[in-house]
Amino acid sequence: MMDGGRGADGERTEDGGRRTEDESPALAVRPRRLRRTAALRGMVRETRLSVSSLVYPMFVGETGDSCEIASLPGQWRWRLDDLERGAARAVEMGVPAVLLFGIPSERDAVGSSAYARNGIVPRAIRALRRSYPDLIIMADVCLCEYTSHGHCGLLTDRQEVDNDPTLPLLARASVAYADAGADVVAPSDMMDGRVRAIRSGLDAEGFHEIPILSYAAKYSSAFYGPFREAAQSAPQFGDRRGYQMDPANRREALREVRLDLLEGADMVMVKPALAYLDIIREVRDLVDVPVAAYNVSGEYAMVKAAAMQGWLDERATVMEILTAIVRAGADIILSYHAPEAAAWIRDGA
Ligand code: PBG
Repeated sequence: MMDGGRGADGERTEDGGRRTEDESPALAVRPRRLRRTAALRGMVRETRLSVSSLVYPMFVGETGDSCEIASLPGQWRWRLDDLERGAARAVEMGVPAVLLFGIPSERDAVGSSAYARNGIVPRAIRALRRSYPDLIIMADVCLCEYTSHGHCGLLTDRQEVDNDPTLPLLARASVAYADAGADVVAPSDMMDGRVRAIRSGLDAEGFHEIPILSYAAKYSSAFYGPFREAAQSAPQFGDRRGYQMDPANRREALREVRLDLLEGADMVMVKPALAYLDIIREVRDLVDVPVAAYNVSGEYAMVKAAAMQGWLDERATVMEILTAIVRAGADIILSYHAPEAAAWIRDGA
């Protein structure tokens, strides 16, 4: 029968159809019961954002005035004497940590200003420390902002990035930052063996207690575009695919993470975050150290651009993104939205 065993009048029919006036059996399982009110939803929420897991990346320039970064609306390249002001909102909102990127006045082939004792990052660390004794100050360790060619390491005569001679320079930079008062060093260069080199460099200078947050699974990503404009660190030729990871690879990320842990990394990072949530989850399941995820410049810029057009609700979008990153398994999130996100979290968004 076309109507499934029911007579045209709704009466039970001989082949077992039901009367329409019968009570349908109660649905035993109704997930919607726990979504009825905001309080209920709050009680059963599986993932909670916490201000204490946020890190705010900041740019500090050696020369020039403080200015807003065109490709990262709302983010600034700070002059040294404005840096304290730049960090004020994050600190006020309870963001516990900043990550510093230096933009030097001089660049050369060997990235000298990356490891100069009185370079822009050591000076920035000292300035911030004076104002904010309890702030966790992380320093990004890489050569790309400091080399004239814009690559993350030294070059061979054949213009290829030369891994091993780069390692002592990364260690020197780390020591300079630790000496200035950094709480954490975060190597982002993707040279092989750099965690070990940095660990022994730090230990040799007595900085046993300074942890390394390694950008362990750092992909060669188009999402770094706005950062490179901000840091003026785009490679002058070629690209970073010879040292950063291929976005197509998952197993390789786990290998990178394992290696960095063997070399002495205290925390590991996955970067970028949004297109790599699966990698965050896999890394979280693999290791027992804290896992960080970097919600990078391009991810910020996309949200900003759409919000500025009125196409997305910035607050709701950011909270959803951060929740997804935590749900994927990140303990720590680096985000340019950190100060606003902290305010929204405290607000109970
Ligand atoms: C330096 C570095 C980069 C980022 C963090 N550290 C750029 C790159 O690798 O090209 C990207 C951060 C961002 O996009 O927000 N090597």
